[in-house]
This record gives sequence, C-alpha cells and structure tokens, in this order.
Amino acid sequence: MAIRNIREIGEEVLTKVCKEVKEMTPRTRELIEDMLDTMYEANGVGLAAPQVGILKRIVVIDVTGEDPYVLINPRIVEMSGEQTGAEGCLSVPGKSGTVTRPNYVKAVALDADMKPFELEGTELLARAICHELDHLDGHLYVEKVEGELQNVNYDEIEEE
Ligand code: NI
Repeated sequence: MAIRNIREIGEEVLTKVCKEVKEMTPRTRELIEDMLDTMYEANGVGLAAPQVGILKRIVVIDVTGEDPYVLINPRIVEMSGEQTGAEGCLSVPGKSGTVTRPNYVKAVALDADMKPFELEGTELLARAICHELDHLDGHLYVEKVEGELQNVNYDEIEEE
C-alpha cells in the first residue's frame, strides 16, 4: 500500500489534458493500486491520475466505500436530467461549491484488465463520473461553481 501525494489547485499538472492508456503495465497497475489507497486514505469518493501527478486517463471512483470502479480511457456516451448540489475535490482542500451536473450518466471505459465495460450512474455516482472525467481534461469543478466557494468542515463533505 502506497499513499501518493495529492496535488492541489494551482499546480500545473491539474490543468493538462491526460494521455490515453495503450496497454496495462506493472507500473500502471501499481499506479491504480496507489490511487485506490490514496482515495480511501483521504476519504474521497473519486480520484483522477493527474491528482497524483500522472497525466494518464485513469480514474477511480467509489461512492459507497465498498465498490470501487477503475475507469481507463473513460468516455461519457449518454447523459440526462440535472442535479444541483455541493461538490468538493481532494485537490481543493477545505472547500465546496454548488455545481449542476446531469442526474444520469453512462460511461464506457476499460477496466484494470483493459476489458471494455459500461458504467451507469445516477445522483452521486453520476456527479463523481463527471467530476473525475473533467480532471482528465485539465478541468476542476471550481470552474463550474455557481456562486462562491464555501469553507467546509472536513467531516461534513464527501470529496472527489
Ligand atoms: Ni476532484
């Protein structure tokens, strides 16, 4: 188990477009394991590779705490509805803001064995998919916040 350093807003690596993963390697497997460890350690519900300084199109998501998804080269292929709610990010510590996202999202991605799969989500899972995929294109939720960023108590919000 290895916890990696989470990069924070202001660091250039968070503004870059990440590269597609072409093949699974021991190094990439280790990255995925470390991303999961780092996400759980930080009590997050999602983490994208650029948040640990790696410009690869990989995200991990777990909105329930017991059912992690690894998404490699993910793409959103369907979305519908709308939800407006509080969002946070491990790269923007101590803050949250109101963001409107689709209420339903379908994504296609490769799993950790490079096998294609579909992931459908509503509510928090849909929000997390959108939030994490934005990271892969260098975008942070703060760009989409309605109104002001709020200061939050760490215990009160799920961070992505
Ligand atoms: Ni984030």
